[in-house]
Amino acid sequence: MSEKVNTTYVENRYNEPAPRPGVGQKTKRHCARWWWLHLIIFCVVFLIIALCLVYVAMPHIAQHDVNKSTLTFTELDFLEPTADSVTITQKGILHSSSMYTPTLDPFTASSWLVTNGTFGANPILTVEMPKIHAMHGDNNVSVSSQVASVVDTNQLNAFTIAALNQEYITTALTGKTKLHEGALPVTTVSYNKSTTYKGLNRLAGFNVTSPNINLTAATGAPNFSGFAFIPNPSIMTFAMGNVTLSLATAQAGIIGNATVENMTLVPGNNSLPMTAIIDQLSVIGSMDKSGNVLLEITGTSAVYNGVHLAYYEAALKSNVLSLEMNIAAVLAGSAASAAASA
Ligand SMILES: *[C@@H]1O[C@H](CO)[C@@H](O)[C@H](O)[C@H]1NC(C)=O
Ligand SMILES: *[C@@H]1O[C@H](CO)[C@@H](O)[C@H](O)[C@H]1NC(C)=O
Ligand SMILES: *[C@@H]1O[C@H](CO)[C@@H](O)[C@H](O)[C@H]1NC(C)=O
Ligand SMILES: *[C@@H]1O[C@H](CO)[C@@H](O)[C@H](O)[C@H]1NC(C)=O
Ligand SMILES: *[C@@H]1O[C@H](CO)[C@@H](O)[C@H](O)[C@H]1NC(C)=O
Ligand SMILES: *[C@@H]1O[C@H](CO)[C@@H](O)[C@H](O)[C@H]1NC(C)=O
Ligand SMILES: *[C@@H]1O[C@H](CO)[C@@H](O)[C@H](O)[C@H]1NC(C)=O
Ligand SMILES: *[C@@H]1O[C@H](CO)[C@@H](O)[C@H](O)[C@H]1NC(C)=O
Ligand SMILES: *[C@@H]1O[C@H](CO)[C@@H](O)[C@H](O)[C@H]1NC(C)=O
Ligand SMILES: *[C@@H]1O[C@H](CO)[C@@H](O)[C@H](O)[C@H]1NC(C)=O
Ligand SMILES: *[C@@H]1O[C@H](CO)[C@@H](O)[C@H](O)[C@H]1NC(C)=O
Repeated sequence: MSEKVNTTYVENRYNEPAPRPGVGQKTKRHCARWWWLHLIIFCVVFLIIALCLVYVAMPHIAQHDVNKSTLTFTELDFLEPTADSVTITQKGILHSSSMYTPTLDPFTASSWLVTNGTFGANPILTVEMPKIHAMHGDNNVSVSSQVASVVDTNQLNAFTIAALNQEYITTALTGKTKLHEGALPVTTVSYNKSTTYKGLNRLAGFNVTSPNINLTAATGAPNFSGFAFIPNPSIMTFAMGNVTLSLATAQAGIIGNATVENMTLVPGNNSLPMTAIIDQLSVIGSMDKSGNVLLEITGTSAVYNGVHLAYYEAALKSNVLSLEMNIAAVLAGSAASAAASA
């Protein structure tokens, strides 16, 4: 015993006072007798820390990493609309910065319209999200041709109005799901992700190209034709069915109706055949000195397979398009082409 104390003293190269031998001895004796108790305490403390890490920190880390992930849409299609459902294709990129590569179970996500940071009163519709194995970095997350039921038609109206009129639109997906990470216990995480993407921006750039007035059209038959040129700067595709637009001028009021059959707006420039029945006298009465007419064009109905789509009609009515057309030139061109073909 005393030999060991001496060794300690010798090894103290800094010449500091050695610990009082009494304390060391006492501690050693205590340790020797109660080592098993120390081991048990150590094990219990280790277990508590490990369990805390697994059951308290792990769900927190999982939720934290889910919170930190981002979702970007690359494609959103709204096809085969009915009065209360729409077939959705949604392609997106989930970006994960987590060091883990967890798997999220499939879950039902609610899609919300977010206006100036405030969630709508109810979800717009629900989407069945697939199982997601989130790798570090970008992950493709897609939903294909899913018939999504509309939860709240008022929210769907608000969404279509915002999508048509705004330069940017924000929606959120929310839901709860189970997260699996290796052998760690399964935890429940909340998913609540807002995504901002481009809207249709009031169809800025709308035009009617290749306009033609048919002077020989029978009464009640379309006597105007052309192409509705509609830029769609968004990643969204909307199938709206047969769309009717009312044509008006400030001078004469309503001067006619136009129809675009099977109007589906895809991303990029759309050029869709359009026919109209317009009242010639009213149009000529609305011309200024140089032959220009300022047309006000408002979508009035959207009918898909015989069903009126109130949510598209609400959006179309919310956006009055103005288009200046030189009717004198159109008439001259139409007369020339009619003469050429005769
Ligand atoms: C995750 O985000 C929600 C709010 O969206 C917040 O209440 C919660 O504390 C966050 N959780 C973690 C672990 O960061
Ligand atoms: C959102 O904010 C914009 C600009 O700050 C404002 O013009 C618009 O009216 C707001 N919309 C709503 C619904 O509060
Ligand atoms: C995502 O899908 C696109 C094609 O749709 C593919 O080019 C890309 O490599 C995919 N990315 C990942 C991370 O799988
Ligand atoms: C999602 O988070 C936002 C705040 O970022 C909150 O206002 C909203 O109520 C949350 N929605 C759900 C369904 O948890
Ligand atoms: C519409 O297109 C014609 C050519 O087809 C062009 O002359 C005219 O400036 C365009 N109008 C608008 C508002 O873009
Ligand atoms: C003009 O209308 C007549 C009668 O409806 C039709 O036969 C003819 O094909 C139309 N011409 C054009 C260029 O649309
Ligand atoms: C177009 O048709 C309407 C209704 O059939 C008719 O009132 C109008 O005069 C026609 N206009 C032209 C330019 O043929
Ligand atoms: C346009 O259509 C509406 C309803 O379909 C009809 O009542 C109206 O007379 C039409 N207007 C013109 C100018 O043809
Ligand atoms: C519109 O769709 C129907 C059914 O798919 C088709 O029969 C019709 O030819 C289409 N019309 C146009 C103008 O594409
Ligand atoms: C769409 O049309 C506009 C105006 O004509 C043109 O500037 C633009 O390059 C076109 N975009 C595409 C993708 O073709
Ligand atoms: C649009 O109208 C045409 C002719 O009436 C019809 O054949 C077609 O099925 C309609 N399209 C849709 C999508 O309902």
